[in-house]
Amino acid sequence: MTEQGPIPQPEDVDRLWSRVVGRRAFLRGAGATAGVAVLPAGAARAATASAARRARLTRGDIAILRFLAAAELIEVDLWQQYAELGGVAGGNPAYIAALENLDGDMPQYISDNTDDEVSHAQFLNAYLASMGAQPVNLDAFRTLPSSKATGARQIGRLTNLQRNTVDTSWYTRYRSRRNPDFGASFPQAVNIRDEPLIPISDADTPPNQGQPVPPTNGQQRRMQAIANSAGFHFAFIEQGGSSLYTTLSLMVTSLEVLRIVVSIGGVEVNHFAVWHDKAGNAVNDPLAGVTDPETGVTFPNLNRPPFGGELFQTNLIMPEPTQFIRRNLPLCSVIRPSSRQNAGALAAVNALTADGLFNGQSPRFFRAARALAIAADAARRV
Ligand SMILES: [Fe+2]
Ligand SMILES: [Fe+2]
Repeated sequence: MTEQGPIPQPEDVDRLWSRVVGRRAFLRGAGATAGVAVLPAGAARAATASAARRARLTRGDIAILRFLAAAELIEVDLWQQYAELGGVAGGNPAYIAALENLDGDMPQYISDNTDDEVSHAQFLNAYLASMGAQPVNLDAFRTLPSSKATGARQIGRLTNLQRNTVDTSWYTRYRSRRNPDFGASFPQAVNIRDEPLIPISDADTPPNQGQPVPPTNGQQRRMQAIANSAGFHFAFIEQGGSSLYTTLSLMVTSLEVLRIVVSIGGVEVNHFAVWHDKAGNAVNDPLAGVTDPETGVTFPNLNRPPFGGELFQTNLIMPEPTQFIRRNLPLCSVIRPSSRQNAGALAAVNALTADGLFNGQSPRFFRAARALAIAADAARRV
């Protein structure tokens, strides 16, 4: 999520909220009047079941669900690339070994996270169709090249994982008592710039090399740095999902859609918590200290000077209580950010773009993604 730009002050949020409440009261009145004036007797009985279901969803709810379906299809695409190479049935033994240096369960977690995203995308699209709304299909944009490394299928991709810049400020943000929705910004935990997140070729990282801790040659260090970067990227993606679902839930009208958004959103939070724990192992003994010889990306021990302390200590993985709603209320352990500006649909598209996930995508893709995002961010509770 972006942490730049003007941040709405709590007083503004209060004012906006009273405007929304006022508008809701107005719309209830308008709807009741229109119902009496326009509907002839028997018209409701004549309506088809699907039209009745469709009528229960506002344009805003449909826009939110459509953006979330697109976000899930994007998640599926990136997680499938991770799973092909590093999942429980993954095809690149050296990448798997490097991931297992973070935690022995990493391949299983990667496969399970992938399955969850597939279920999210399929469910959201099926629900949209069941309500007479248009599902989302991004197949026309599966144009990016696959990795050439052993294990990767050679198919078109929606997302790029071969050279990325990972925003790791989620790590310090969740350890801080300051909240981005109150204007705070946070340092990177690790500087991951222009780094692959999956092995890109066998010449670069041989698929059957050993991955000792510590790595003993350049290709092993490269592979470990790639796996460590992936570990931070997993948490980056899922914390983004946690904030996005929390934020969009506040704009939903239908209780059923709200149930969907908070129920899937809770699983994004669950994913984030797991990956937050695992990423810390890249920057703690015995794995800390790896540097990628190609890019210079380095993973210091964040428990030792000049790091350490509350913002960096690796086992402080529970969300630190932070400012919430108003500064004069007690600190509260919450998902953050959760404002439309910092964590809405457009903010999500911008964050994924800055991550390099869409490098090589067509202008048409960006137009489509932005259009879906703008429609979702325009949704209001009625
Ligand atoms: Fe998801
Ligand atoms: Fe997710």
